[in-house]
Amino acid sequence: MEKYVILGGAKLEGEVEISGAKNSAVALIVAALLVEDVCIIENVPAVSDTYVLIDIINQLGGKAEFVDKGVLRIDGSSLNCCEAPYEMVSKIRASSYLMGALLGRFKQARVAMPGGCDFGVRPIDLHLKGFAALGAECNVEYGLVDIKAEALRGAGIYMDQVSVGATINIMLASAMAEGQTVIENAAKEPHIVDVANFLNSMGANIKGAGTDVIKIKGVEKLHGGMYTVIPDQIEAGTFMIAAAATQGDVLIKNIIPKHLDSISAKLEEMGVEIEEYDDSIRVRGTSELRKANVKTMPHPGFPTDLQPQMLTLLTAAKGTSIVTENVWDNRFKYVEELRRMGATVSVDGRTAVVEGGGRLSGSPVSSTDLRAGAALVIAGLMADGVTEIYNLKYIDRGYESFEQKLRALGAQITRRKDGEKSYAVTIA
Ligand code: EPZ
Repeated sequence: MEKYVILGGAKLEGEVEISGAKNSAVALIVAALLVEDVCIIENVPAVSDTYVLIDIINQLGGKAEFVDKGVLRIDGSSLNCCEAPYEMVSKIRASSYLMGALLGRFKQARVAMPGGCDFGVRPIDLHLKGFAALGAECNVEYGLVDIKAEALRGAGIYMDQVSVGATINIMLASAMAEGQTVIENAAKEPHIVDVANFLNSMGANIKGAGTDVIKIKGVEKLHGGMYTVIPDQIEAGTFMIAAAATQGDVLIKNIIPKHLDSISAKLEEMGVEIEEYDDSIRVRGTSELRKANVKTMPHPGFPTDLQPQMLTLLTAAKGTSIVTENVWDNRFKYVEELRRMGATVSVDGRTAVVEGGGRLSGSPVSSTDLRAGAALVIAGLMADGVTEIYNLKYIDRGYESFEQKLRALGAQITRRKDGEKSYAVTIA
């Protein structure tokens, strides 16, 4: 087991290059299984979720490997199995995309119930509702989701709730169905658009991705090709908040500023200076951070995956801030860890009240999930003294070269083995 050791107080200054979007890459990698051909996907982040999916594809008879930095070659032509058991898929939520891809390719799929971060219930009823609308029969038994269809026919599907995963899964399952599928109340995240663009570049006929209504005209077959993953909106937002949290001055490069509108607006409301360029954003922090209220919403609202990072920043803002989590029913578990560092936050269901203005103090803390881990790193950068962060496996799932990028900006952070003593003076 490993831990981060952080000596707080350094201002982050300089430039950071953002990697490909993890939540897009994991969907594109599985979507490539629809294609009985070779797909080359560029700008794929080297994070553990990527390696888990590479392993799954190879176990299913496909071939997946990195052929260059960030360049993944996937050959789905030899795929010969539509069953993904528990030990294979329980590690990551993105394994749920196997249901849509295997159903779309083989008209059947047997996939273990998906795993993922733990913020309460993570149902798949909307995924199964979509598959059933396309003509599939879905049964969940012994922890396996068993789906089969004589044929897949286009249908009108209204999503009771906006769901990124279900929207993507229905696109995968209907790309080669007979006729047209219309998804209403679809998710509009940047990675939804990325998946639609990828499928279209492979011969699919998908219109409206990024809006509430997505139309998918089924095609006979998809062909291989090349595609580049969009920059990671959540990694970029994490670095923007880290720059503000350390009163630093950071140029966040290789991004799509439009994807960060809600974060830029909230940071400006708090007194942080934001300058937008074509493919970068400069963030300059302030010692007079103003309080703010944050409500997470599906895109284009404030992203739930930046809620822990933003709440951590709000502990430094003078006054009382309210954070409302509207996407997940239990995404404040990490607050307990912030309290160890002296944060004054009270949580009631989906609402957290942050009494800001105090200074955090370093402490041993444990990451409870991917984005909570990133928030604790930000807390360590802000705090007086040394912070040790355990359970790095979560952070390694979604942040490529995290400590290297932070150190290049001046952060005093290092990765240590669990048992190693953490001497603040030897952190560098
Ligand atoms: C994706 O999860 C992301 N994961 C999550 O990011 C992100 O928090 C979430 O979208 C929302 O943006 C990946 O892309 C791999 P949802 P997903 O289906 O697809 C309910 C991270 O840190 N729901 O949009 O699982 C669900 O309970 C991760 O990178 C149903 O009720 O999220 C939740 O309340 C964490 N039934 C809401 O919808 C369903 O069938 C949104 O979930 C599906 C979802």
